[in-house]
Amino acid sequence: MANFSFPESFLWGAATAAHQVEGNNINSESWVLEHLPGTFYAEPSGDACDAYHRYAEDIALLASLGFNAYRFSVEWARIEPEEGEFSFAALEHYRRVLTTCHEHGLKPVVTYHHFTSPRWLMRCGGWVDAKTPDRFARYCERVTRHLGDLMSAACTLNEPNLALVLEKLLPFAFQELPWWATAAEAFGVTPDRLGLFQFNVNPQAHQVIQRAHRQAVEAIKSGPGDFPVGLTLALVDVQAAAGGEIQAAEYRRAMHDGYLEQLRDDDFVGVQTYSRMLVGPEGRIAPPAGSELNQMGDEYYPEALGGTIRHAARVAGIPVLVTENGLASTDDTRRVEYFRRALRCVADCLQEDIDVRGYFCWSALDNFEWNSGYRPKFGIIAVDRETQQRTPKPSAAWLGAVARANRL
Ligand code: BGC
Repeated sequence: MANFSFPESFLWGAATAAHQVEGNNINSESWVLEHLPGTFYAEPSGDACDAYHRYAEDIALLASLGFNAYRFSVEWARIEPEEGEFSFAALEHYRRVLTTCHEHGLKPVVTYHHFTSPRWLMRCGGWVDAKTPDRFARYCERVTRHLGDLMSAACTLNEPNLALVLEKLLPFAFQELPWWATAAEAFGVTPDRLGLFQFNVNPQAHQVIQRAHRQAVEAIKSGPGDFPVGLTLALVDVQAAAGGEIQAAEYRRAMHDGYLEQLRDDDFVGVQTYSRMLVGPEGRIAPPAGSELNQMGDEYYPEALGGTIRHAARVAGIPVLVTENGLASTDDTRRVEYFRRALRCVADCLQEDIDVRGYFCWSALDNFEWNSGYRPKFGIIAVDRETQQRTPKPSAAWLGAVARANRL
């Protein structure tokens, strides 16, 4: 299948998230967690990539590389730093970001919530509180009113199922770790009312989050603008090892399907995939002996993307947008190879008539990888941690050239 042409309207881009690149997101709950005594974060986010000020340079660079879209998030903690108090200046800032995208021919794909929430929301019980869907919808309505006319697509929430995935991947439960109680105290709530988005396996939280998504879609659809709206999911390619078919299906159900089945009325599902998981009769098993691992300790397995696109399309029954896919590695030649093999899978899916609308690599920049700090390198563009100087890696040129040609 040499020389596969992608559909004319295919979106090619790189993705970032506000907290991971903007810097000094001090009104967010993550900033509090990063500075907690006994914090589980390797280091604080600090200035990150200073993208709050350097966004124009980043957008121009991505456009010059050959991309036609940019996925980024707007930050609730900046736009509504206290409950009900909206910052016109922050909204105007994001209007300039969207305008800059258009000036450079990049279609803005906007995520309204990428893991971080305002501190004040945590004081109200965050994502376990029954009123949070209303709070989130009000924020979405305000953002859309200000920016909707410039958006090309929107994701309400990023990876609301991440905690359900981590529950199956990690040997411990977040709420049993010592920092959980410290964090609850920092936000003035009891541990059962600690409504963190990324780490919540509480079934009540997932009901709240699913309601928040539905109400957000409605708020965003009220306009202005007329663009596709969906959410993104953390999807691991679950593969059954000999005799593990029932368990593998159970893993998919627990981590993904509860969400995928709720998305049938959405315009697309955002697929975010990094690796696979092998499941045998006793549950999860280690990658085959001698497997190459990425910097996160997961198997180097670009073909995972084909499996998750097919699974998402089958269960959700709606178009797919690959909103994140990439490799944490200091060896950029392995990243090029990763993209090449992952994109072959996208091409195969398109040939099977699966409606895949675009591909966004994670990530545009080497950035703040949450509790792992700045060590993992996911970027196609290196960022000097002292000077903030951007240097595109060979993978940026490679992927940009594929994007420009719209062909693999
Ligand atoms: C998240 C990103 C994160 C990436 C790599 C996804 O779970 O959306 O914020 O940096 O994976 O771990």
